Amino acid sequence: MGAALAAGLLVRKPAARIVAVDPDPGRARALLPRGAAVDVRDRLPEAVRPALVVLAVKPQALPVALPPLAASAAGRGLVASIVAGARVEALRRHLPEARIVRTMPNTPALVGAGVTALWAEASVTAEDRQRCDALFGAVGTTHWLPAEAMIDAVTAVSGSGPAYVFAVVEAMARAGAALGLPAPLADVLARATVAGASAMLAVPGADPAQLKAAVRSPAGTTDAALRVFEEGETLQDLLSRAMEAAHRRSIELGETVA
Ligand SMILES: NC(=O)c1ccc[n+]([C@@H]2O[C@H](COP(=O)([O-])OP(=O)(O)OC[C@H]3O[C@@H](n4cnc5c(N)ncnc54)[C@H](OP(=O)(O)O)[C@@H]3O)[C@@H](O)[C@H]2O)c1
Repeated sequence: MGAALAAGLLVRKPAARIVAVDPDPGRARALLPRGAAVDVRDRLPEAVRPALVVLAVKPQALPVALPPLAASAAGRGLVASIVAGARVEALRRHLPEARIVRTMPNTPALVGAGVTALWAEASVTAEDRQRCDALFGAVGTTHWLPAEAMIDAVTAVSGSGPAYVFAVVEAMARAGAALGLPAPLADVLARATVAGASAMLAVPGADPAQLKAAVRSPAGTTDAALRVFEEGETLQDLLSRAMEAAHRRSIELGETVA
């Protein structure tokens, strides 16, 4: 995710100066586009005073990654964390002088189509917010939240959400094969359908309810399928149950991280 952000920023702002810190610089470089102008180091250079630090390690790496950051000038500036479950209060214990922004991006950022929700604590300035918008806006859209607790709900919607869509594609492909299509063809049809439907949703003003109604002729094939979604445990019930589980898990993780 850190490499995707760096690559996205360089596309929008080729003059941006980026230092990446990773215990395995070779591996980190391999995640970046070939020739990307990123200075990859195995430790935080003492002299660097970045406009913005992005904390992009796994939650379990925080106890190792935070002390060198806290000991450097970089740890006294603007820090945007993408670490799932790491609450600002927990980060603050390690970074007492930082201005902290907590964010939840999602994996479509890897192809420039991400969506990132952000929450800023009180010390974060308007200029800090613009810097975060410039960075996360380089790989998708940004949305500021009025309360940190909303990050858990965002995680359930857009953080984990791409996996729900991938699961739908897998299920549609399997069901298509069960109806007699060659499996590769069912897979191609399911992917292209979700990609096409996503493109329709991306048209400004597109309304999913209207789009659905437009393909649902009374007593037609789509109507027959959608009726199944609306009977017994409905699609809404299933998704609500799944997203409540993601929400609960996000809250639990927040109680254990850092
Ligand atoms: N993937 C998502 O959809 C998503 C969405 C929202 C938020 N996030 C959050 O983003 C964070 C990163 O996720 P990811 O999927 O990008 O994980 P990842 O691919 O494992 O990336 C983490 C990077 O941190 C490096 N690292 C480990 N210890 C470090 C240290 N002490 N100092 C500096 N760098 C260190 C790792 O290097 P080595 O591999 O060389 O150890 C690796 O390059 C996670 O906290 C996750 O919760 C992910």
